[in-house]
Amino acid sequence: MAAVLAPSILSADFARLGADVKETEAGGAGLIHVDVMDGHFVPNITIGPDVTAALRKVTDLPLDCHLMIADPDRYVGDFVKAGADMISVHVEAATHLHRTVHRIKEGGVKAGVVLNPATPLNALDEILGDIDFVLLMSVNPGFGGQKLIPSALAKARALRVRLDREAPDVRIEIDGGVTVDNVAEVAACGVDMIVSGSAIFGSGDIRGTTERMVRQLAELAEREQTC
Ligand code: DX5
Ligand code: ZN
Repeated sequence: MAAVLAPSILSADFARLGADVKETEAGGAGLIHVDVMDGHFVPNITIGPDVTAALRKVTDLPLDCHLMIADPDRYVGDFVKAGADMISVHVEAATHLHRTVHRIKEGGVKAGVVLNPATPLNALDEILGDIDFVLLMSVNPGFGGQKLIPSALAKARALRVRLDREAPDVRIEIDGGVTVDNVAEVAACGVDMIVSGSAIFGSGDIRGTTERMVRQLAELAEREQTC
């Protein structure tokens, strides 16, 4: 199956957010990635539940809320109420990760855990059986427009092997530095969902760029089925 493209609205024009999201939808995006930052866990401040609730009204695409915040447990309920379909929390930020994951699931929302680039895969050992997806950071979180850290690709491949063996229903998402030029290489690592922000929203042609990336993902999936 082709990987799903998840445009990150972090790089959208916030003054015309609904229209930008609609363009990615028309281009074949499968999810809308919502980057939530608090100025504590990461050195940047972005958006929260109110913007998520506003997005809920303009798109039927699943809203994928990536919480880069300290004490995420405190805010999970607000994002559930706002209409999130997926919520992910950083293992580096969640003190009581098991409780937080179950709080997300009790809200009827898919639960993910996020690993920073330097956090090893074995941080998943005790939580793999409880989650719906793993989000691997391929940049240090905080800002859009950074370069993909190459070691994230080997990490994704290693996680794919592990999940195929131990938890085949758990999905892999990757986030940071994905462009039109490397999206096929990233997808070939066996990831299911691919986040891309500045490459889409900074391209001057949101719909066209989304289409080009989605087409590459479809072609890759087709080739893999035939070989
Ligand atoms: C980084 C965010 C990413 C980021 C992706 O902290 O989690 O979602 O916005 O943006 P690009 O694709 O520009 O790296
Ligand atoms: Zn993100």
